[in-house]
Amino acid sequence: MKLILSKSAKVKGKIKVGGDKSITHRALIIGSIADGITILKDYSKCEDCMTTLEIMKNLGVNILKNKATIRIEGKGLRGLKEPLDVLDCKNSGTSMRLLSGLLAGQNFFSILTGDSSLNKRPMKRIIEPLSLMGADISGRDNNQFAPLAIKGRNLKAINYTTPVASAQIKSSILLASLYAEGNSSITEPAKSRDHTEKMLSLFRAKIESSGNRIFLKEKSKLIAKEEDIIIPGDISSAAFFLVLASVIKSSKVLIKNVGINPTRTGILDVLQKMGADITLKNKKDNNYEPIADLLVKGKKLEGIEVSGDIIPKIIDEIPVLAVAATQAEGITRIKDAKELRVKETDRIYAITTGLKKMGAKIEEKTDGLIIEGPTKLKGNTCESFGDHRIGMALAIAGIIAEGKTTIEKSECIDISFPEFTETLRKICGTDNVNEKN
Ligand code: S3P
Repeated sequence: MKLILSKSAKVKGKIKVGGDKSITHRALIIGSIADGITILKDYSKCEDCMTTLEIMKNLGVNILKNKATIRIEGKGLRGLKEPLDVLDCKNSGTSMRLLSGLLAGQNFFSILTGDSSLNKRPMKRIIEPLSLMGADISGRDNNQFAPLAIKGRNLKAINYTTPVASAQIKSSILLASLYAEGNSSITEPAKSRDHTEKMLSLFRAKIESSGNRIFLKEKSKLIAKEEDIIIPGDISSAAFFLVLASVIKSSKVLIKNVGINPTRTGILDVLQKMGADITLKNKKDNNYEPIADLLVKGKKLEGIEVSGDIIPKIIDEIPVLAVAATQAEGITRIKDAKELRVKETDRIYAITTGLKKMGAKIEEKTDGLIIEGPTKLKGNTCESFGDHRIGMALAIAGIIAEGKTTIEKSECIDISFPEFTETLRKICGTDNVNEKN
């Protein structure tokens, strides 16, 4: 599939983005091991979340999905069943890393595998702490990569400091800790997204946090919520439109019901620091995951430095931030972001390659990027590298650029945001956004 884009002079309208991917994964997993029925509304329909849903079904959980809701019949902590086959996490790092922790504490054997991208991503970062907890888990190439083989058994608690600020590592250990003897604690070098902590708390686990440290008490039973769980809109998806509307003069876009958990709002902080006109309306803090409507208007941006503790809060938005930087006055420097090299693809290399092809002044650094703006981008044929966020970031560049831009292998966009193309059409006009097989 190809996505073909042309310049839009103005973007305008009121839109919604799909449910938050990270929160949907957690609701599916935690709902499955809770006592009672969980109903999810406004869930993410992305491929990655559907992968987690299928795996939970293969572990014996009854899950009924329809257009508006997902109904999970929780099995309780000890109710999962040994799967009959290998569990395929496809492209989803979140599925593989979170489920490794969950499976390490079961009383059965399982194998997790993924596609060619996922089976090249680092897994030692979860194998190490889980092994310290007594897990029997091993992986390809001396425990570096998936497939992962897990012989579930009794685990012991851990006090662990993660080498990188990663919500996937933290969540893997937290899920394993539900099955461990003793109280566990996890410390991160910087705070990563805290959706697992919030979801566990919603299901009444005994979990607390202080700064970058989280404590989970042993024998934390999970109880399903009586009310439906409403998943907020994904700020990582909203980011594409926040950037697009910011860099095009006279634009005005309202994005409804977006999750504004402070561990995820780095993109708002950074764009606002660059001078963007973004207003948060109808803020609702419901003690679970806060939401707001985001109103964004076109405004001249300026280059800035982005580094340090904000990086984990903006990690998935850096490719599209690079697009914003090509339109900002001056230099934008992104540092401390070498984690980008081990995402679905090497995102530092991929976004540099794509934007360079479109005429941007962008330089690749070991741990980030240097971008000089503003540049008039020119349409070209670009590769998504099979990476959803690269495909969408370059599509946004295609709406800004002169001439025609073609994004190849654009079907990967469905991995996180299947509604992307239709939403983009809504604010840019149908003529500027086309798909071709
Ligand atoms: C995610 C955590 C982040 C992020 C990914 C989703 C999650 O990865 O990049 O898209 O849902 O926990 P890391 O934990 O590897 O930083």
